[in-house]
Amino acid sequence: MMAEKLLMRALRGETLATPPVWMMRQAGRYLPEYRATRAEAGDFLSLCYNPELAAEVTFQPIRRFGFDAAILFADILLVPQALGADLWFETGEGPRLSTISGPDDLLRLKPADAIHDHLAPVYETVRILAAGLPAETALIGFAGAPWTVATYMIAGRGTPDQGPAHALKASDPATFDALMARITDATIAYLLAQVAAGAEVIKLFDSWAGSLKGADFDKYALDPARRIIAALKAKHPDLPVIAFPREARERYIGFGRAVGADCVALDSSVDAAWAVANVQVDGCVQGNLAPGHMVTGGQALIDETRRIVEAFSTGPHIFNLGHGITPEADPANVELMLRAIRG
Ligand code: CP3
Repeated sequence: MMAEKLLMRALRGETLATPPVWMMRQAGRYLPEYRATRAEAGDFLSLCYNPELAAEVTFQPIRRFGFDAAILFADILLVPQALGADLWFETGEGPRLSTISGPDDLLRLKPADAIHDHLAPVYETVRILAAGLPAETALIGFAGAPWTVATYMIAGRGTPDQGPAHALKASDPATFDALMARITDATIAYLLAQVAAGAEVIKLFDSWAGSLKGADFDKYALDPARRIIAALKAKHPDLPVIAFPREARERYIGFGRAVGADCVALDSSVDAAWAVANVQVDGCVQGNLAPGHMVTGGQALIDETRRIVEAFSTGPHIFNLGHGITPEADPANVELMLRAIRG
């Protein structure tokens, strides 16, 4: 009989002698083979919508490093595009979208259940991955959480303080709430389709959760995540879900329990001892090496990796970075990190 995958064991709450490990953005520009495949595809979005090539870049870090999990290669902004927003990537700058500033813009969006034709290539990528990954590698599907996706849809780009989204939330709450509901419904439909195609774990990225304060955090970070996870678990009771309310600080306390997640991903600002006492008490945690170590390497990387493994060793833990690996990272430092974890 096949032993259960390490990542799944940690997600079910098992404390393991060696934690499973993967990295956010593990398929990315720090890898020469990723850059070559992206060039073959033409550009980033063409890569996302080419199932063979998107699967290829997902496989690349698994072949090179033997991570315990592969994450579907796609982007959180494919959902707004499937809802009818314009989306393009400015080289060296990041994403650009058509903006949402009032009720008329909402009327131009498609209904949540109309996203599947557009996203069919992503589901095909998941099928290729489910069939082709090594038996010990778990397959993670994902989506952006509604607040984070809304910040991009409203501003039309990444923003340092999510100002335009906060402004619309204050000035036109009806439009803002309707947008959040539309994204939430679309996200449920999208994630259910990923699971149907073979995703074994789902991760919800709320990269900008940290800018929601007080009751706003409850209404726009907790509630949508709870709704999405409840909808997933209603159909797939055993599906593990990882929630990532990045920079939630003290709101990490009780987050997993409140939304029904099996694991909470920690950003690098979270102190490990604090997280053991306040977050890992409720179950599995993931994280949280600062991505900068993948650029600088050396003994500091080894020491910090060992410190994190040790700190979380009394409970369920998945080793990861606190945010995505950057293009400047050295693949040799990934090897160094893996040796520090696995010996
Ligand atoms: O982690 C993985 O390897 C899986 C694939 C993945 C990508 N984006 C590929 C990508 C995942 C899970 C994401 C999530 C994502 N996308 C988030 C949430 C996580 C986070 O980083 O906070 C966000 C906010 C986005 C939106 C997005 N996509 C931005 C802001 C950018 C530009 C910044 C950048 O790194 O260039 C992207 C582009 C993007 N998404 C790249 C990759 C590999 C780089 C594109 C390229 O190859 O040029």
